[in-house]
Amino acid sequence: MCGIVGYTGNHQAQPFLLDGLASLEYRGYDSAGIEVLSPDGSLHGVKCSGRVEILAQRCATANLVGTSGIAHTRWATHGAPSDRNAHPHTDCSGRIAIVHNGIIENFRQLRSQLIAAGHEFKSDTDSEVIAHLIEDSWNGPAKGNLLEAVRIAVSRCEGSWALAVLCADMPGQIVCARRRSPLVIATTANGCYVSSDITALAGKAKEVIQLDDGQLAILSPQGTCSVFDEDGNSVNSPTTMTVDWDASAATLGGYPDFMAKEIAEQPEAIRRLLQNRLGKHGIELDELTLTKEEMAAIDKVYVVACGTSYHVGLIARDFIENWAKVPVVVEQASELNYKESVLVTPNTLCVIITQSGETADTLTAARRMRGLGCKIFAITNVLGSTAARESDGTLYIQAGPEVCVCSTKAYTAQMVGAAFLALRLAQARGTMTREEVEKKFHELETVPNLIDQVLQRSWQDKEASRAFRRAHSSLFLGRGVNSTAAAEGALKLKEISYLHAEAYAAGEMKHGPIALLEPGFPVVAIVPQGHVHDKTISNIQECIARGATVIGVATDGDEDVATICSNVLWVPPVTDEFLVPLVVAVHLQMLARYVAIDRGYDVDKPRNLAKSVTVE
Ligand code: F6R
Repeated sequence: MCGIVGYTGNHQAQPFLLDGLASLEYRGYDSAGIEVLSPDGSLHGVKCSGRVEILAQRCATANLVGTSGIAHTRWATHGAPSDRNAHPHTDCSGRIAIVHNGIIENFRQLRSQLIAAGHEFKSDTDSEVIAHLIEDSWNGPAKGNLLEAVRIAVSRCEGSWALAVLCADMPGQIVCARRRSPLVIATTANGCYVSSDITALAGKAKEVIQLDDGQLAILSPQGTCSVFDEDGNSVNSPTTMTVDWDASAATLGGYPDFMAKEIAEQPEAIRRLLQNRLGKHGIELDELTLTKEEMAAIDKVYVVACGTSYHVGLIARDFIENWAKVPVVVEQASELNYKESVLVTPNTLCVIITQSGETADTLTAARRMRGLGCKIFAITNVLGSTAARESDGTLYIQAGPEVCVCSTKAYTAQMVGAAFLALRLAQARGTMTREEVEKKFHELETVPNLIDQVLQRSWQDKEASRAFRRAHSSLFLGRGVNSTAAAEGALKLKEISYLHAEAYAAGEMKHGPIALLEPGFPVVAIVPQGHVHDKTISNIQECIARGATVIGVATDGDEDVATICSNVLWVPPVTDEFLVPLVVAVHLQMLARYVAIDRGYDVDKPRNLAKSVTVE
């Protein structure tokens, strides 16, 4: 939700801290700040509301000199986005500074206790209590030992944290702590780097340390990192992970924005994912660590996810039910977490889908499902993410870093991942023959080329985007699996263009949303060739009869659609209807992008949103 970085070494800290924040900005961008330990032995910082760019401008005149420092980019939870609520936060003495990602759930109680003990608070955040708790233990039981002071402080906290702490009395040292929010550390000849995720560390080291839950670490300017457990015992072999993203993966590489880049990367991402998946025994999905007997015994699947990943879940339900003949329940994680009864069987498999692997709601749901006895299978993008680490098996979609806040390439790659899972289950359960499974796989292999063709047609999306110029709302329609494609299209439009979009099953529209329609009201209707084509055409006619401007998403050459719709986003013919959502997704992503650009918005960093939602 927020991004934190830290550096201690033999270089100036500020350049890395600002670059690191810029690459983590998708985690939050309503305020930012930096704190550096100056050669005179005191902490100096700059913080302000707004983006990292504004912080960088302020830093240009602030003359922050020092070789160790910490920095933060914020997505507000407690306390409005403002200068005073921006991190880093300091203790009363101004000699201890912290940056924090997560939520301190018992902060009100701690704050009252600290105020009663004489501490003075400068912000409205939950995070500031940590600085004062460290101050208390530093002056008390920890007796000037920073690691111990942090350890005691976090032992009084409830909630989640990734924490980096700088202390003017411990020059060169940075102490980190983690609970539920991720933290990775690179040790190099130039010193140690710490970050919320590996995006900021790309190009620094090939292998990074991942702190486990409850662990703490001391980073030194000599490039050593000592890891400790929550009782302060040394951890000899901390968890490490190999970084396979190079620095260029997280740069624009000539594209105008990350959304454009990531939309264009979809064919390549899917090609990569499809490699070596069809072997002599059919679909290879060793990541699903269940025996053939266990797969055969599965009598229910729960798919749990949020947002765009939840839409993948809805499509996964179709794949699994149609191919593997297992009933599937799809739940939004935030809803599942507070349901009174979750009806699992002893053989229920739980599938979590999460690009970041850090979405708090999804992780909480997975823990609940595990508690109910389910095996957990994760489909995720981020290597070594909490979802991957806490699951029994993980399929990495290998889409590369997704920097744009709204998900594009992860959406389609996750759908392909869900298709693998469904085919693997169908194969193990004998609900499809070997030939049928292989045929579906070969159909999946056509997707990258189909998407390549859609990418060439972006001019159609640009033209269609004009229909939204004067709109205050819009409707996205589709039937069957395409009602989910419509929901995803509407979500994309809402989040980056701030234009209301309602998605509805096309046949259901007449039961209510049709009342919204008036002359010029934009409707996007997904109407590819297939078994519900004619029914959807009838729904389009209902819209047109009420003066709506209908943009059809249709199969090449469909005259029925061409003659009635104002614009058509053409998709090439597919060999099987299950491929349609993968292909139409790309048009709807491009359409949303053009509408947002037309309205003058930053498509990569939509307001109020953050990429990695690590709070519930
Ligand atoms: C929408 C979007 C979000 C995420 C959701 C879940 O474009 O990106 O709706 O899909 O926050 O995130 P992950 O997949 O990381 O769990």
